[in-house]
Amino acid sequence: IRKVLLDCDPGIDDALAIALAIGDPAIDLRAITTVGGNVGLQLTTENALRLREYFNADVPISAGSAAPLIRNVEDASHVHGVGGLGGAVLPASTLPVDPRHAAQLIIDTLRNAPGEVHVVAIGPLTNIALAIRLEPRVVEWAASFVMMGGSFTRGNATPAAEFNVFADPEAARIVFGAGWQVTMIGLDVTHQARANSDVIARLAAMGDLGTELVVPALTFYEDAASADGQGPAVHDLCAVAYISHPEFFTAVPAAVDVETSGRLSYGMTVVDFDPPLPNANVPTGIDKPAFWDYVVASYATHFTA
Ligand code: BDR
Ligand code: CA
Repeated sequence: IRKVLLDCDPGIDDALAIALAIGDPAIDLRAITTVGGNVGLQLTTENALRLREYFNADVPISAGSAAPLIRNVEDASHVHGVGGLGGAVLPASTLPVDPRHAAQLIIDTLRNAPGEVHVVAIGPLTNIALAIRLEPRVVEWAASFVMMGGSFTRGNATPAAEFNVFADPEAARIVFGAGWQVTMIGLDVTHQARANSDVIARLAAMGDLGTELVVPALTFYEDAASADGQGPAVHDLCAVAYISHPEFFTAVPAAVDVETSGRLSYGMTVVDFDPPLPNANVPTGIDKPAFWDYVVASYATHFTA
C-alpha cells in the first residue's frame, strides 16, 4: 500500500482524483493540501473539505497559498465552473481544516515517515515550492514526486503553456530544479485519457457517486481537448493512477526546465529528451482500457463498502 499526500485545487478532475485516491485500496491517502488554482483558495479548500465528508474519509486537509509566488492570479473557472466542481453540488462541510499552512503539513507528513510518502501535485506548484524553500529535506524524504502539468508539445492555458505550470511558473521552476526526480504527467499523456461517452455511461451506472458527483461534474467539464467530441481529458486522475499503476504508462527520462521570461512562452516546460543529466521521468503513453478499468474498480469501493 502506497502512502500519498495530494496537493490539489479542486477543480473537477481534482475532485475525481481525490475520489480515486480514497477509493483505490492500494493507496493510503495521508494528507490533502489545497492551493489556489482552478478557482480561489477558499473554494478549492471548501471543495476538498466537502469531498472528504462525502467519502467519509479520515485525512487532514490544510489550506496553502492563495496566490502564485510572483505572477498575478490566473484561474480556470471557465473550465471548472464558478464553484470549481462544475454541476456537482455537495453538502457544505462541517469538519475543520487543519490549522497548519499546507507547506507545513507537507513538511510534517514527510518528516514523520521519511522515504514512505509519495507526493502527488495536481494544481499549481506554489505549495510544493514553498515547502522546498522552508525545508529542503522534503526532497529526500518524499518516496517519489509525481505532478500533473506541463507538456512537451502544446499548452492549454496558452499555446505554449499548460495551466498548472502557467499558473505559477516560478514555483514550477523551483520544483523541477530541486534535485529530485519529477514524474511529469503532461498534456501529451493526459489528452489520451478521455472520458468519452462509453466511459461516462460506465461511471453513470455507479449509484450516487455517478449521479451526484461524477456525471454532473464531467458533463460540465469542457477543456481544450474536448472540442473533437471525444470527451474531456481527466488530467489529474492520471497522476494518481501513476502511483499505484506505473505499469499503465510508458515513460522516458528527460531534463525539464520552465520558461519564466518568455513573452509567448511564459510557463512552457522545455523538455530535453537527450539530456546529459535527467531530472524528470516523462510518461508519453497510457494503456487506456487498463486505466479506465482501474478507475471504475476504485470508484466501486465507494458504494459497495
Ligand atoms: C490541469 O489544469 C487544471 O485545470 C486541471 O485541474 C488540471 O490539473 C490541466 O491542465
Ligand atoms: Ca488540478
